[in-house]
Amino acid sequence: MGFSKDFLWGGASAANQCEGGIDEGGRGLANVDVCPAGADRNAVITGHKKMLRMDGSHRYPAAEAVDFYHRFREDIRLFGEMGFKVYRMSIAWTRIFPHGDEEEPEEEGLRFYEDVFKECRKYGIQPLVTISHFDCPVYLIERYGGWRNRKMVDFYLHLCRILFTRYKDYVTHWLTFNEINMILHAPFMGAGLCFEEGEDEEKTKYQAAHHELVASALATKLAHEVNPENKVGCMFAAGSVYPYSCRPEDVWEALLTDQENYFFVDVQSRGYYPSYAVKRLEKRGVFPQMQPEDKDILRQYPVDFISFSYYNSRCIAASKEQEKAEGNLFQSAKNPYLKFSGWGWPIDPLGFRITLNEIYDRYQKPMFVVENGLGAADCPDGEGYVEDDYRIEYLREHIRAMRAAVEEDGVDLMGYTSWAPIDLISAGTGEMKKRYGFVYVDKQEDGSGTLERIKKKSFYWYQHVIKTNGEEL
Ligand code: BG6
Repeated sequence: MGFSKDFLWGGASAANQCEGGIDEGGRGLANVDVCPAGADRNAVITGHKKMLRMDGSHRYPAAEAVDFYHRFREDIRLFGEMGFKVYRMSIAWTRIFPHGDEEEPEEEGLRFYEDVFKECRKYGIQPLVTISHFDCPVYLIERYGGWRNRKMVDFYLHLCRILFTRYKDYVTHWLTFNEINMILHAPFMGAGLCFEEGEDEEKTKYQAAHHELVASALATKLAHEVNPENKVGCMFAAGSVYPYSCRPEDVWEALLTDQENYFFVDVQSRGYYPSYAVKRLEKRGVFPQMQPEDKDILRQYPVDFISFSYYNSRCIAASKEQEKAEGNLFQSAKNPYLKFSGWGWPIDPLGFRITLNEIYDRYQKPMFVVENGLGAADCPDGEGYVEDDYRIEYLREHIRAMRAAVEEDGVDLMGYTSWAPIDLISAGTGEMKKRYGFVYVDKQEDGSGTLERIKKKSFYWYQHVIKTNGEEL
């Protein structure tokens, strides 16, 4: 009973949030590099402020991040020590293609990831690779307008071909786009979109989304052609949507929010635009332009498994006057029955079990939880040791709920990678002080620190969880 013998325990990160080294190895500039920390970040990541170069008046946390680029051997050794079976990580597109539209890849970039994969395999860790985790070359944004342009499909597929071929011996599990539904909430991060004055933003977002959906389907096809062992997953930001009350208007709003969220996976998993999306997008005049072959492409190449992040549930009210709660770039009404993290995100382990059930009911495909964790401000003692019982508590309750979903509800779950095994830069706020790791990194909000890695209390706790295959929490 409980988790299967080959359940994949591990942790998840993203290139731009941990690597740094943005001007090394021939790497080009990416959208995520130019997202500053501080007041302008939100306007930039939502595409409302165009800042495609770094300037002297902002701080850019991705530039150094936590220096995984130089310290990956030490970091992966620590993951090995925790007993990881899998490490979810992403590729910085501009390490492979600095501009994004070149024919020939950058050998130094390819070698870097090959070294990372070899290091993982040394500890028996299988890489799970996100091809694009909020990642788009700046050159493609300037020259082509990012994912609003159909040409992006070809550039992305060229990247995929190089990755699938070169890493055939190391990687068999791939995710096409991180949190694909985030395109609606952070379109610059999700699709390299900067909006022009007067532009119909919704129309552009759904057009870009369509291009990503087609690219994802074609990447799935390609992955299977290059190596029949390859398994390809979609990835979306999940979290059950609760109606604020049993008032039918609240229930209806919650359903609409759910559909907006599931739209992407409905296409990636079932292989066609669901009727609710066709009707609503047409009515709003934002239904994307399609090529004649698109319907067939979507239908023929659905994903093999469904992966998702879960941080919290959401609560939706028809009235906009309800008190608001924060969340993973989504806002929702404040649920009076829940506690909240230091960043105002609801904490809802039972919501995790509900989410697992909902997704499994909807798609009936194997699932992979590829992000879940607690962002908190840790206070190290004089030796740098962090006693993070609050993080252990969060993870314990969530893993318990996940176990119930497997053991008692029968959902089909391949693995769990917590966000993040080591402290790194926050995607939403660009902060360093919002920490998720089992390993503390001595890097402070102002950029100072030695970058030393120190195991937290949760490191030993998670090590034991993996050792007992989730039996002892
Ligand atoms: C997900 C992203 O949205 O949530 C990660 O895939 C991100 O990149 C994580 O870091 C946690 O959000 P935040 O804003 O606390 O970093």
